[in-house]
Amino acid sequence: MKKKPDEIAIDRVIRGLKSIPSIPTVVTKVTEILNDPWSCAADLGRVISADQVLTAKLLGLVNSAFYGFPGKIETVSRAVTIIGFRQLRELAVGTSLLNMFKGLGNNASLSVQDFWKHCVVCGIAGRVLAIYKREEVPERFFVAGLMHDIGRMVLLESCPEQYNDVFTMVKEQNCLVTEAEIAVFGFTHAEVGKQLMLHWHLPSSLVNAVGFHHDTESQGQFSSLADVVHVADIITHASGLGSSGEQFIPPLNPYVRERLGLKMSVLELAMEKMHEQFENIADFMLVKK
Ligand SMILES: [Fe+2]
Ligand SMILES: [Fe+2]
Repeated sequence: MKKKPDEIAIDRVIRGLKSIPSIPTVVTKVTEILNDPWSCAADLGRVISADQVLTAKLLGLVNSAFYGFPGKIETVSRAVTIIGFRQLRELAVGTSLLNMFKGLGNNASLSVQDFWKHCVVCGIAGRVLAIYKREEVPERFFVAGLMHDIGRMVLLESCPEQYNDVFTMVKEQNCLVTEAEIAVFGFTHAEVGKQLMLHWHLPSSLVNAVGFHHDTESQGQFSSLADVVHVADIITHASGLGSSGEQFIPPLNPYVRERLGLKMSVLELAMEKMHEQFENIADFMLVKK
């Protein structure tokens, strides 16, 4: 299929990102497992155990206060049994992707620490809302939240000067960052993130959640993942934890909240939990409290 002019421009932006020439092999393998309905826990255990860094990271995460297991989880196969196969494969992808981007995106107008804090808290918010909604795999919502603004990281890293124009416009015109991105680039970070996810052959639910987190209505069909990430992003802004460069809290789409059946009181409760859970995961994610 022929690419649209925007897609060609986004491709150029992604290619300009020297630090991520390709996705690590382990992510490709875990993604294959993620996309394969016939894959099993043993397949995942083998792939993760072959990568020492990922194994250490995952064991660190599942043993952190965030998960709160009383005993130590010392092996990947034990983690698969306790956390669950589907939860762990989501975490494996999220943790690997997070490592790839750590340290990127430094900008005078936005601290990389604040930006990561925003992403981690949005992941926590997605998981809290998913648990409230009794979703089967809440970790999927955690990973989608973690990744939702990855396109902004790409833009900050590959086009730092143009991105300074975005921040200048945001300050001078008091507008949303997405509005300034459209004015400067012709597309938003959400579209860049979507193209990056597509490029890596990540599952379509994740592609859409990243691509439509600011504009969930335009996907054509609704997905609870994109809807939850939209709400998670807004309550992350409202929580005051971290920053993605916005001057004020972006508007919450009332249709999305209604579709998800989330009362305002639930969102307030979710925000309390986010603060609590962030304390438990911050050290593991290497994000300053
Ligand atoms: Fe965003
Ligand atoms: Fe965000």
